Amino acid sequence: MPATGAKPPGATDEAAAAQAVRQMFDSIAPRYDLLNHVLSANVDRLWWRRTARRFRPILARPDSVVLDICCGTGDMTMALLRHRPRGGRPILAADFARAMLTRGAQKFGPQARNKVEPASSAAHKPQAPYAIPVEADALHLPLRDASIDLIVTAFGFRNLANYQAGLREFLRVLKPGGQLGILEFSEPGGLIGKAYAVYFRRVLPAIGRMICGEAGPYNYLPSSVGRFPPPPHMLSLMRASGYTDCAWQPYTLGIAGLYTAARPPVT
Ligand SMILES: C[S@@+](CC[C@H](N)C(=O)[O-])C[C@H]1O[C@@H](n2cnc3c(N)ncnc32)[C@H](O)[C@@H]1O
Repeated sequence: MPATGAKPPGATDEAAAAQAVRQMFDSIAPRYDLLNHVLSANVDRLWWRRTARRFRPILARPDSVVLDICCGTGDMTMALLRHRPRGGRPILAADFARAMLTRGAQKFGPQARNKVEPASSAAHKPQAPYAIPVEADALHLPLRDASIDLIVTAFGFRNLANYQAGLREFLRVLKPGGQLGILEFSEPGGLIGKAYAVYFRRVLPAIGRMICGEAGPYNYLPSSVGRFPPPPHMLSLMRASGYTDCAWQPYTLGIAGLYTAARPPVT
């Protein structure tokens, strides 16, 4: 299968595509959270929480190693943290856009998570769960082979310059039996799909432009979703990359959905 990936306007190769994506997210970082919640009428919160619940058994294990890649301003990370036990290993929260990551770190870093407690009770309690911000490219993770139990990515995978390379890199760092969750938009079919397309392709870019002050990022959003492989194609990319148990669960009439898969266990 030919390689597929994000192609922001003007990008002629993968390096230029990655750079354009990083610059775009750095530029919208100050308004990103506000726009997300307005444009999705807060449904995005339900999607992050539902995704985190799907991986509750792994998250509940204090020793599991969890990566939220393309974590942006950290809302997926925060949803994952709700299921981490006190004293559990911190979640690794990685992104290559520093302005996005800096905002995330204010929500999920150790200082943000450790509420001030009376010294008497704090002394006996294991540390509250937190995440460590890591500035990293999803296609070149600074992680050892077979070191991660769970990789989750929310609305980031679609922006990778090469989807197959992303899937290969995730497979490399997952432990045998480790799990992958990719939360992404999709385009629902039928009448609902037609009505949603009007909102997504016309209304959403106009609101985005008003709040954000620039047109590019919110024209890019619908066009990148339109270019993203539909579920059957994405599932075949996952299988061809070596994953097992590949599945897609639609959320909210298929506007978004969660891809799940696992690195095959050693036999
Ligand atoms: C739409 S935001 C999603 C942020 C967050 N996960 C959420 O659900 O709100 C996409 C994020 O993916 C990041 N991203 C895109 N390509 C990346 C790459 N190759 N490596 C690391 N981060 C990347 C962007 O910088 C951006 O912060």
